[in-house]
Amino acid sequence: MTTNVITRVIDGAQGWINERAPGLQQWMDRHAIKYYAPKNFNFWYFFGSLALVVFVNQIVTGIWLTMSYKPSAAEAFDSVEYIMRDVDWGWLIRYMHSTGASAFFIVVYLHMFRGLIYGSYQKPRELIWTLGVVIFLVLMAEAFLGYVLPWGQMSYWGAQVITSLFGAVPVIGEALVEFIRGDYLISDATLNRFFALHVIAVPFVLAGLIYLHLMALHEVGSNNPDGVDIKKVKDKATGIPLDGIAFHPYYTVKDIFGTAFFLVIFAFIIFFEPTAGGLFLEHDNFLPANPMVTPEHIKPVWYFTPYYAMLRAIPDKLLGVVVMGAATLIFFAVPWLDRSKVKSIRYRGPITKILVALFVVSFCILGWLGMQSGSPAQKLVAQILTFYYFAFFFTMPIWTAVDKTKPVPERVTFDH
Ligand code: HEM
Repeated sequence: MTTNVITRVIDGAQGWINERAPGLQQWMDRHAIKYYAPKNFNFWYFFGSLALVVFVNQIVTGIWLTMSYKPSAAEAFDSVEYIMRDVDWGWLIRYMHSTGASAFFIVVYLHMFRGLIYGSYQKPRELIWTLGVVIFLVLMAEAFLGYVLPWGQMSYWGAQVITSLFGAVPVIGEALVEFIRGDYLISDATLNRFFALHVIAVPFVLAGLIYLHLMALHEVGSNNPDGVDIKKVKDKATGIPLDGIAFHPYYTVKDIFGTAFFLVIFAFIIFFEPTAGGLFLEHDNFLPANPMVTPEHIKPVWYFTPYYAMLRAIPDKLLGVVVMGAATLIFFAVPWLDRSKVKSIRYRGPITKILVALFVVSFCILGWLGMQSGSPAQKLVAQILTFYYFAFFFTMPIWTAVDKTKPVPERVTFDH
């Protein structure tokens, strides 16, 4: 009886809206309900929707944090302590936000890796990928700005180091650093502008980019673990790809399952190990910023450390900055560096498999090296791995062209 009433109310409301804005239903059908996606999505296809979940988590917890946070050098650190101790559920909201930042990068790195192994950047999906790389760069900026806000030792000194990198720019370097900081040193003025950017400007840009990323995806349709174009084989009567299934309910259910699984792990970290042993929130950041005392090891949070290791591996400051920047920007070129006729790694040869595996291992080792003190031996390893990192990309047109490929099936492979 009650369900009947609820269904009638929902149907009535839907009808009422459709009469006034018929385009809305079409939009929902096109982008969510009747979006036909390949039926062979696997584990790797969880991370796009999880990135969305984490993004929403960051926005919601961020808004709540802003209600009690004070963006001034005199009060910021204490206001965070106040959130942790006195604000009702403040500790939970803060840990959801700080763990969310690391979760964002875990999810996005895995999402990028999926793109890499299934060739999801190849024609016609270059735009999806390039928009993804822009998202990645903006996300890095957002994370850096946010880390400064608690005004702990690592916030302060991290900001000092990163902003001073702009000083390596010839001629205008010094003026540029001053412009970014709004002062000669990291100060109250810097904190104020970083707050404005972190809370309003950058999230706004990110939301817009994510929208464009998804629109670009829905324009051409999703790739899949086989790299088969499902639009080639369509049902003659309906025009729907035979290997496609409607996003709703099939993938809404799958993504709800993935989200639930993710939330269990996420909650476990928040409740039992919110700092991840100093990996997600560094120990030094529980000390208030002190411009007179430099921490023993200034290092960024784990998701920046592979790039930080590259920066430190290069003896010249300007060259180090260029190498670090190039290491992130090079992802833009991937769709044009890959010459393989085959998308998915499933149908590629051993060269690709070995080089991709080595790339992942070297990226992880670089990440570890970026957290260490940087002894001469570590520096040497970082130099070798930085060389491999770039060699992987620069030689990609060669090894993707010469590597053996297996025949790609007409239809997707799928085990019930
Ligand atoms: C805030 C960050 C991001 C969000 C919310 C996001 C969201 C999504 C979603 C929901 C999908 C469709 C579902 C899926 O294929 O998993 C997707 C697909 C895709 N994304 Fe992202 N993404 C983000 C960042 C990135 C980045 C950094 C890259 C690469 C540099 C990227 C590259 C791609 C590609 C190539 C696809 C198509 C994959 C395929 O069809 O196989 N995305 N993204």
